[in-house]
Amino acid sequence: MATNKNRQWLLKSRPEGMISPDQFQLAESEVPRLNDGEVLAKVLLLSFDPTQRAWMSMDTYIPAVNLGEPMRAGGIAQVIESRHSKFRPGDLVNSFCGWQEYVVFQPDKPKFVPVTRIPGHLDPKLILALSLTGLTAYFGMLEIGCPKRGETVLISGAAGATGSVAGQIAKLKGCKVVGIAGGEEKCKWLKEIGKFDFAIDYKSQDIGRELDRICPEGVDVYFDNVGGPITDEVLLRINQKARVVLCGAISQYNQKVEEMYGLQNYLSLVINRARAEGFIILDYLDRALEGLLKLTSWVESGNLIQEIDLQNGFENIPSTLLRIFNGDNVGKQILQLAEPPLPIRTNPAEQLIFRIMQKLSGLRG
Ligand SMILES: NC(=O)c1ccc[n+]([C@@H]2O[C@H](COP(=O)([O-])OP(=O)(O)OC[C@H]3O[C@@H](n4cnc5c(N)ncnc54)[C@H](OP(=O)(O)O)[C@@H]3O)[C@@H](O)[C@H]2O)c1
Repeated sequence: MATNKNRQWLLKSRPEGMISPDQFQLAESEVPRLNDGEVLAKVLLLSFDPTQRAWMSMDTYIPAVNLGEPMRAGGIAQVIESRHSKFRPGDLVNSFCGWQEYVVFQPDKPKFVPVTRIPGHLDPKLILALSLTGLTAYFGMLEIGCPKRGETVLISGAAGATGSVAGQIAKLKGCKVVGIAGGEEKCKWLKEIGKFDFAIDYKSQDIGRELDRICPEGVDVYFDNVGGPITDEVLLRINQKARVVLCGAISQYNQKVEEMYGLQNYLSLVINRARAEGFIILDYLDRALEGLLKLTSWVESGNLIQEIDLQNGFENIPSTLLRIFNGDNVGKQILQLAEPPLPIRTNPAEQLIFRIMQKLSGLRG
């Protein structure tokens, strides 16, 4: 392995305003030799997430990426060499892989997120999507939004990875679900595939007028992915005891601090005795299995569609990050770097246990 080269995209400069591919630099180094307790894996799939914009520029819930280091990114990799007793060549693992072709993990000293083996019978693209944005939608909607049958649930950024799953979960809970997204094609996806009751195209329609027409009864749960003026319009239409799930505010991530949008209508939270609560999915990592069992069983039963927007090729990594800020993606943005070089290791006992646990989670409703 020591003769292999590892291509990487390093963070070259911190963005101010809109990110650009120029902020990354291509580098090549030797694939390192392993020490005891380490695992070498080939990166197969990379996840693209709006939070990477924050990781490029500042310390937030985790520290910023250092300049000159590979850009941080979630991903799926295949173990090709192991000096750790719990990992074997052929295993698929889910963790922060970074923008590089090979990654060395120290599973006993994980950095920010654990190194998790995923059962070999599951589709790695699906697991990558569900384990990041799927779980965000699941816990954000169910634990903070707490939707009740018959309530009206509104999602911004609704055709994206998190929004599309959050809306479908609210639908499964018996709610009237409305999505806000950019463009006719995305709104069509929401209604025809995502089974949302209504969709509003914020690029061509007046959101306030559409909300008054579609939801004269007001909004009980607002799952917010975008922030800014869209959220201000929604705040004017929340009901008493509404729950505002502050998942993210992508409309503001590329703004300079002095240009960030300040909400005008937040007093609506007071008047309506409503609750706005932010969360970070890392807080729910100890319940990840519970969420994944549920989400995968919904996908298998056809009750949840996880749309995946797949790009390819190492050279396209920086430009793929821009897709989510330009709104080019429908569903979860993933890039495939490589096919698994080894047969994927499956473990029939583990597969059986997963299936049984899925069934049990289904019985719990
Ligand atoms: N709290 C957490 O732990 C957590 C975890 C994961 C994600 N998030 C947050 O969830 C949100 C969605 O993330 P995701 O990974 O699922 O991405 P995504 O929704 O798949 O992709 C981003 C989407 O945002 C929309 N967008 C981009 N710029 C916009 C703007 N200026 N105004 C309105 N919409 C804009 C685009 O859709 P349109 O074409 O519809 O504009 C784009 O497709 C983000 O705010 C992210 O930070 C939070």
